[in-house]
Amino acid sequence: MLTAAGLAGAGQSVSPSDRIRIATIGFGGMGMGDTKYALSVPGVELAAVCDIYDGRLTRAREVYGDRVFTTRDYREVLARKDIDSVIIATPDHWHATLSIAAMEAGKDVYCEKPMVQSVVDGKAVIAAQERTGRIFQVGSQYVTSAVYQKARELVQAGAIGRLTMVEAWLDRNTALGAWQYSIPPDASPATVDWDRFLGNAPRRPFEAIRLFRWRNYQDYGTGVAGDLFVHLLSGLHHVTGSRGPERILATGGLRYWDDGRDVPDVMFAMLDYGKQASHPAFTMSLRVNLKSGVPDERFGFRFMGTDGVITTSMSSLLLEKAPPEREPGYSIDTFPKAVQEEFLRQYRQKYPAGDQTPAKIEPERFAPPSGYDAHREHHRVFYQAVRSRKKPVEDAVFGFRAAGPALLANTSYFEKRMCHWDPDAMTVRG
Ligand SMILES: NC(=O)c1ccc[n+]([C@@H]2O[C@H](COP(=O)([O-])OP(=O)(O)OC[C@H]3O[C@@H](n4cnc5c(N)ncnc54)[C@H](O)[C@@H]3O)[C@@H](O)[C@H]2O)c1
Repeated sequence: MLTAAGLAGAGQSVSPSDRIRIATIGFGGMGMGDTKYALSVPGVELAAVCDIYDGRLTRAREVYGDRVFTTRDYREVLARKDIDSVIIATPDHWHATLSIAAMEAGKDVYCEKPMVQSVVDGKAVIAAQERTGRIFQVGSQYVTSAVYQKARELVQAGAIGRLTMVEAWLDRNTALGAWQYSIPPDASPATVDWDRFLGNAPRRPFEAIRLFRWRNYQDYGTGVAGDLFVHLLSGLHHVTGSRGPERILATGGLRYWDDGRDVPDVMFAMLDYGKQASHPAFTMSLRVNLKSGVPDERFGFRFMGTDGVITTSMSSLLLEKAPPEREPGYSIDTFPKAVQEEFLRQYRQKYPAGDQTPAKIEPERFAPPSGYDAHREHHRVFYQAVRSRKKPVEDAVFGFRAAGPALLANTSYFEKRMCHWDPDAMTVRG
């Protein structure tokens, strides 16, 4: 069994000066989850919650008590001097605006993935991070996961030889997995600040489905590419140390969830990574299928190298090595006998020891300890950065290097063309 270092330590007491007061903006499924994880870090306290649907503010007070300040207007949260840090867990079309406003207001930011809804916004978020000196981390927890940490150690130590190809997949099969979230019966223009939900998106009359199932619409979400490819790209970039691909080609379609959504539910992408300091050139295939026939969600990678393969799931890793090729065998048998003898005489001069390669190499497995949770760990890493003032791994540059190519998969799909990306400059080519 392989082992991993650096898992979360047990809770400890924290002095008042070390307390971090947070606010959550967007208190839906992930905002509530992120808040819970954040509060599991010693010294982190919830001061405020912001959401544009009143029901979620009521729920915040039900769970955390009336002392938590609640508001529909994020500016009231950012204006408060008693808040050090914010979690941004709104729909994607608000990520860049809120991240920049929060950093400008002097808050550290944990922003859910994808960092931006549009490639054109990436540089502005990076600039805000640099200009304000705030700590900024994107919420793709696979970058902190012990599984991907172990994969990184193995790939970078050459355990599978030279990387040649990566496959990654995420398969789901349920309505919830396909973003058909529940719509509360009290949703109405009275309980929802519809204009603030729309933000910079096109104006349109209130429609509850577009708020509660926002992922299904390009106006607010980023489709499977921004929602799910981005997790896979974040994991890949962490494992390989890559800055990103150079070419992106995607295809797919709306194969099952024909419920009015304007994004595909099946998507394939192929990405070409050029040679970089931390890795050779390799090719990656990415797949998301929201109606896949599998009984449970499957998320994984196969890192293929010249000497072996690492296969990961959300919570485990398997390293398998193929024995090196055995002696000439098969193909020389087709030569005349005298030619075979001469071939073997020359071969023995080069490899005198003969075939000593094992017929089979036992696979190695790794799994984090039971109870380990990469999401909680990702929050612990964030608040560690808030305290140390050292940039976390998944800062705005890392976040954009994952989000940029993921969003270009959408461009490739909708415009039916290959997209080109400069992973160093983080710009679209051509
Ligand atoms: N890291 C992960 O594994 C993971 C998992 C799920 C979701 N996410 C990300 O979290 C974010 C939220 O996703 P979700 O599933 O929680 O969606 P959700 O719809 O459940 O929650 C979003 C919340 O934001 C609120 N909101 C919308 N506009 C707002 C605004 N202008 N100001 C304040 N609140 C606003 C909505 O009312 C809603 O309560 C997305 O960016 C998503 O990609 C990440």
